[in-house]
Amino acid sequence: MSHKIILDTDPGIDDAMAIFFAFQHPEIDVLGLTTVFGNVPVDMAAKNAITLCDLAKQSIPVCKGVARPWVGPESTYAHFVHGDDGFGNIDYPAAKGEPDPRSSAQFIVDMARQYPGEITLVAIGPLGNLALALRLEPDLPKLIKGVSIMGGAAFVGGNVTPVAEANIWNDAYAAEIVFAADWELTMFGLDVTYACPFSPDFLTQLKSVNPSLGGFVHDAAQFYTQFYSQNEEQDVCYFHDAMPLAHLIEPSLFELKTGHARVSTDPLNQGQTSIALPNTTASPDWLEAQTIKVATKVNNQQLTQLYIDTYAL
Ligand code: BDR
Ligand code: CA
Repeated sequence: MSHKIILDTDPGIDDAMAIFFAFQHPEIDVLGLTTVFGNVPVDMAAKNAITLCDLAKQSIPVCKGVARPWVGPESTYAHFVHGDDGFGNIDYPAAKGEPDPRSSAQFIVDMARQYPGEITLVAIGPLGNLALALRLEPDLPKLIKGVSIMGGAAFVGGNVTPVAEANIWNDAYAAEIVFAADWELTMFGLDVTYACPFSPDFLTQLKSVNPSLGGFVHDAAQFYTQFYSQNEEQDVCYFHDAMPLAHLIEPSLFELKTGHARVSTDPLNQGQTSIALPNTTASPDWLEAQTIKVATKVNNQQLTQLYIDTYAL
């Protein structure tokens, strides 16, 4: 079965790895990349997405989306994780193409109307484009098959604050809108992404099975690995963003729990994603909140193999 997706992204090194996974997998049909601020400013995110498409020889639309959070000041970005260029400072030459004239949100709405009930939105950056698309087309949930996001931290701590993960923290009000919409949302947060560490050997394997795309990820991820390895005995990095895509292809690799979800927007807890599991509360504030699925466990070995096998295709 082929999965039609729109990949909403802020490339970003793990974004690049996820985008190439999607391009490589024969059962994933990427209709377009919609970009958003996050790891890098949105102009850079769009330029980087165009460069990744060029490298992978994919001619699909790349759209530019929201440049700042729904509420509050411009983001400070994550260059300390992803490098000044979003690609680990490898000086990779930027491709020449231009973004599609439509905004990311408009593209999502247009495609949803064109393929009603067929598209999975896979969001691996902050959620401003999805929130805006919901405002442009209030019936969007009825037109979309499902939403899979990398973001949040349900039963573990955060990576920006003790309670918040970066994608949700970056645009908490937008995330609140997206989590509250009446669609099937599945969340792949730090609960699973930090449970699956990757060693430098994995990067070498990606490069050897696919010198072009895997080679790019290998080179870009050197800086990223240094960031993640600062307080570790052995070098390590995390490919957060590929998990929702892996789940589309091999759902059996994951354990999911269902619960009512809320996103905090108060300054101290900004971006916290909290889940009320069944029969854990009688509070209407929680029971009236939308139900989502949350990934809580992943099979590391099989996931790693899926990535390598897909890069090898
Ligand atoms: C998320 O934040 C970004 O740094 C990554 O690209 C990923 O989407 C992890 O918290
Ligand atoms: Ca990302």
